[in-house]
Amino acid sequence: MNGRKRVGVLISGRGSNLVSLIEATRAPDYAAEIAIVLSNRANAAGLLRAQDAGIETRVIDHKSFHGREPFDAALTQALRNANVDLVCNAGFMRLHSPGFVREWHGRQLNIHPSLLPAFRGLRPQARALEAGVRISGATVHFVAEEMDAGPIIAQGAVPVLTSDDEDALSARILAMEHRLYPLALQLVASGAAWLDGAHVNFAKDSPPPFLM
Ligand code: GRF
Repeated sequence: MNGRKRVGVLISGRGSNLVSLIEATRAPDYAAEIAIVLSNRANAAGLLRAQDAGIETRVIDHKSFHGREPFDAALTQALRNANVDLVCNAGFMRLHSPGFVREWHGRQLNIHPSLLPAFRGLRPQARALEAGVRISGATVHFVAEEMDAGPIIAQGAVPVLTSDDEDALSARILAMEHRLYPLALQLVASGAAWLDGAHVNFAKDSPPPFLM
């Protein structure tokens, strides 16, 4: 596909969502390609997965900067150098500065393993079990200043089984994440979904922004 959007993926670890995006971009009609993968951790396993796929990678270690702003400025510089149109956070474990959020406003996506706005923050799967919800899932949203609180693009639902522990529920949600993130990125990259103030708008012929 001509005119594919160039995506920068930010990771900190395993990179299984990154792999699901890499696989999606192999389809000829996919509207995005991955231009660069940035990690704040040199030992993030996802870096190897990107390199295996021939994708440029860079480590930008937050510990070598004094504070969030200069770290985020280095991220933005690297993303700009790679001519990135869209940023996908995929297990990136640093909170962004307001300047970074503004810079990539409407162009930065994040995935979170709960049905937002429920269970923002860390270990949402454990808290879903604790709360006794019967359905959970994953959400892809535009990034806003408040963590896990930006306008929702797409959601995928999974059952919570009475036999679940945190690992079992996390695995079921992760499998859903791997279906959902490629769908959400395709919606945004193709122009079928876009940020409009506090909400996401969808083109009339947009594929449904949910999975079950
Ligand atoms: C995923 O559960 C994602 O939703 C959360 O962090 C995890 C990252 O996993 N933000 P991976 O690195 O993509 O395998």
